[in-house]
Amino acid sequence: MQPMLNTAVRAARAAGDLILRSSDNIGHLKVDQKGKNDYASEVDRMAEREIINIIKAAYPDHSILAEESGTYEGNDFIWVIDPLDGTTNFLHGFPQYAVSIALKYKGRIEVGVVYDPLRDELFTAKRGGGAMLNNRRLRVTSQTSLKGALIGTGFPFKTDLHMDAYLGMFRAIATDSAGIRRAGAAALDLAYLAAGRLDGFWEIGLMEWDMAAGILLVKEAGGVITDFSFNDKYLESGNVIAASPRMHQILYQLIEPHVTDNLK
Ligand code: IPD
Ligand code: CA
Ligand code: CA
Repeated sequence: MQPMLNTAVRAARAAGDLILRSSDNIGHLKVDQKGKNDYASEVDRMAEREIINIIKAAYPDHSILAEESGTYEGNDFIWVIDPLDGTTNFLHGFPQYAVSIALKYKGRIEVGVVYDPLRDELFTAKRGGGAMLNNRRLRVTSQTSLKGALIGTGFPFKTDLHMDAYLGMFRAIATDSAGIRRAGAAALDLAYLAAGRLDGFWEIGLMEWDMAAGILLVKEAGGVITDFSFNDKYLESGNVIAASPRMHQILYQLIEPHVTDNLK
């Protein structure tokens, strides 16, 4: 898998450079609204094109699932691409966004890369090979109680459907934790969890490209990820609880009472 990880890194850095170069020009970018609170700029599309060109040149037979351009059918290797995670942040000049690229083989995530071009932080993981930030090995925190814990989340801002359930979860966690952060880029939230900068994370309704690379980072850093039914169907449901093993139990117990039938 190392050559594929190298390709993912090359593609993520190329896209990151393009995003950085464009960040001086955000006022002039063409922006499309894809849905409620869901935007894509020409930078998202150009970055995705750059990534796909690099991957296709190295692995012409592989399949691709990319946020902006959809699916290319190929063999059992599937590259899962979010060219710019945190588009709303990017468009406001709020400095928290990243490129996320994962490779799945027969349904299993084998490689994950999250690249923050602003800080030049490269998070990488290979299944069974650990998670790294640049050259440093990552480990989730050993936090064992909510007291003192810093928890990441994302708001379910694309629909009102789950707001009551979400606010119930939020209240339960906010009361006793040291704080909750909504930084606006799920791929980085998961990378930060892997790096021990957050003690836990939960979100409703993520897409596969938001989380595939981050999930491998968290697992390879010793973390646990489940959906809201304590199962491993998070890629399908988009509902995620992630933390170190003990913190995951604590978060699950606080979240579970608020889980409605259509969040299971
Ligand atoms: C979004 C970010 C955000 C999450 C949203 C995603 P995008 O991705 O990851 O943190 O809350 O659900 O859609 O649209 O900026 O790539
Ligand atoms: Ca995203
Ligand atoms: Ca995106």
